[in-house]
Amino acid sequence: MVDSPEIHRALTWAMIALAIVTFIAVSRITAPYGRHEQANWGPRMPAKLGWIVMESPAVLLFAWIYFQGEHRFELVPLVLLGMWQFHYVQRTFVYPFRMRSEGKTMPVLVCALAFGFQLLNVYVNARWISAFGSYDASWLSDPRLWIGAALFLGGWLINVKADAILIALRKPGEQGYKIPRGWLYEYISCPNYLGEMLEWAGWAVATWSLPGLAFAMFTIANIGPRALVNHRWYRQTFPDYPEQRKAVIPYVL
Ligand SMILES: NC(=O)c1ccc[n+]([C@@H]2O[C@H](COP(=O)([O-])OP(=O)(O)OC[C@H]3O[C@@H](n4cnc5c(N)ncnc54)[C@H](OP(=O)(O)O)[C@@H]3O)[C@@H](O)[C@H]2O)c1
Repeated sequence: MVDSPEIHRALTWAMIALAIVTFIAVSRITAPYGRHEQANWGPRMPAKLGWIVMESPAVLLFAWIYFQGEHRFELVPLVLLGMWQFHYVQRTFVYPFRMRSEGKTMPVLVCALAFGFQLLNVYVNARWISAFGSYDASWLSDPRLWIGAALFLGGWLINVKADAILIALRKPGEQGYKIPRGWLYEYISCPNYLGEMLEWAGWAVATWSLPGLAFAMFTIANIGPRALVNHRWYRQTFPDYPEQRKAVIPYVL
């Protein structure tokens, strides 16, 4: 690829700057999809298709960029590739087909912005693990890899189970919203977002890298404020919403 460590570092810092800008933006304007959809955001597309399109670079482009790197056949980069794809194959090619969002749409703009972000995110992270980063076999006995991987896997399990509970609230063909109950939902409104944030914090620890930190920061900046907005929305929408439930961190926030 025609790039350099300097270009890569500059784009990684750009992603950190984008995380800060995103935090400010989504704290003021809630992304208009799902329960917060609005009519005045331009042309629309089917929600399922939107999810597949906007997340697809994270599977396809990531694999392509990864296999351009000189470390592509080394064990630790392959483990990291496996972690990344474990999450994104589910998110891109399984989750959209499980959603009960028949007839729902999202603004093309939301899809385009997420797609554009993934191009940057994928370049920064894929290029790091197989080219500009350096993970020799000794990383396999470093606790940071295993603590990060455990956090990642734990977050993934929470995320997938939490999404599955939400999806199961609707019977096929239904479109409305209900109060989720049981398991982590007794403590927080958005365990799927908590799981997602743990996953990418785990990725940051396992890769012990600025690109990993950049994506963890972006995820927290993007869905942290949305968790607070979703929580407020539940309280306003359902008068009998459980009082003690927090937004995203049990007993705290
Ligand atoms: N890394 C990141 O920056 C990032 C950003 C955004 C999302 N994500 C991940 O992508 C996944 C989906 O995100 P999301 O924002 O769409 O999550 P969400 O608002 O919690 O919705 C998840 C699914 O459950 C349905 N649903 C939610 N609450 C419901 C309720 N009370 N009753 C019935 N159905 C309900 C939604 O339907 P509707 O679509 O019809 O509302 C949607 O199909 C999550 O796992 C999230 O962590 C990651």
